[in-house]
Amino acid sequence: MQFPQALETVLQILERMRDENARRPCASRTVVDALKQIPSPREIDTLKGHAPSRPKNLGADSAAPSKMEKSDKIEQLASIQHRVAGCTKCPNLASTRTQTVFGVGNPDAEIMFVGEAPGADEDAQGEPFVGRAGQLLTRIIKAMGFPREEVYIANVLKCRPDTPGSAYGNRPPTPREMQTCRPYLMEQIDIIQPKVIVALGAVAVEGLLGTRAPMRELRGRWDSFNGTPLMITYHPAYLLRNQSPSEKRKVWEDMMLVLERLEKPISEKQRNYFL
Ligand code: URA
Repeated sequence: MQFPQALETVLQILERMRDENARRPCASRTVVDALKQIPSPREIDTLKGHAPSRPKNLGADSAAPSKMEKSDKIEQLASIQHRVAGCTKCPNLASTRTQTVFGVGNPDAEIMFVGEAPGADEDAQGEPFVGRAGQLLTRIIKAMGFPREEVYIANVLKCRPDTPGSAYGNRPPTPREMQTCRPYLMEQIDIIQPKVIVALGAVAVEGLLGTRAPMRELRGRWDSFNGTPLMITYHPAYLLRNQSPSEKRKVWEDMMLVLERLEKPISEKQRNYFL
C-alpha cells in the first residue's frame, strides 16, 4: 500500500466510525504496525534523493519546496485518476454520472484553480470548466497571461451532483459529498504543489477550508491551505449571473493579487482590464 491509499483507508475507517457514533478510534496492533511501515511522501522524497517536501510558502523565510519530477507527478496523478474513475463512495453520484471529472492542466502549474463540481458539460466531456462558466474562467486565465494548459484546474467534487427527477439543472454538493471527495483533491494539491491556489466561490472554500461565510467577506484576501497561499474569489458562474462591472472588476483585482504574489509583471493594459 502507498501513502495516499493508506491515508484514504484511515479516513474511510474514521468516517465509518463517525457514522456509527463510535467514541474512540481503535485499531489492532497488526493494523497499526502495517501503517507504520508505509513511508510518507517526505520519506519517499528523501529515499529518492530529493529535498524533503513542504512547507511551501512564498514568504522569504520559507524552506524551498521539494521538486518532484514532472514524470513522477504525471504517474501519481494518473494513479489517483484511476481510483477516482472507479470510485463509488457516493452511490447516488456514481450511478448517475457519465464519467468522473478529475482535473486538467500542467502538473507543474504555479496556479491551481479549484471549483465546486462538474456541471452537465463537464460530465459529458470529462474535463472541468468547459461550459459557459469555464469559458469565462479560460478568458480570465488568458488575461492573466497564461494559456489554459499552463495552470491546473480541478473541482472539490469529481462527480456531477445528481438532480433526482430532473435531467437538467444543478445543485450544490452536500457537505458529506465534499468530505468524501476531499481526499482526492488533497492528493492532487500535494502532488502538484502549486505556488498559489485560487478557490472559486463559497463552495470551493467550504470544500478546502471547511468554513462557510459570505463571499463578500472572504474574497480578495490571502488565506492559506496547508501552507499554500490561497486566494478566494467569486465563481465565474456568479459573474455570468451578475454582469455588474464592479463585481467583474473585483475578480480581476483578486487575480492581480495572484500575479503580484507570483512576482509576474503586470502591464498597464492588464491593470486597466475589465473582464
Ligand atoms: N463549475 C464548477 O465549479 N466546476 C466546473 O467544472 C464547472 C462549473
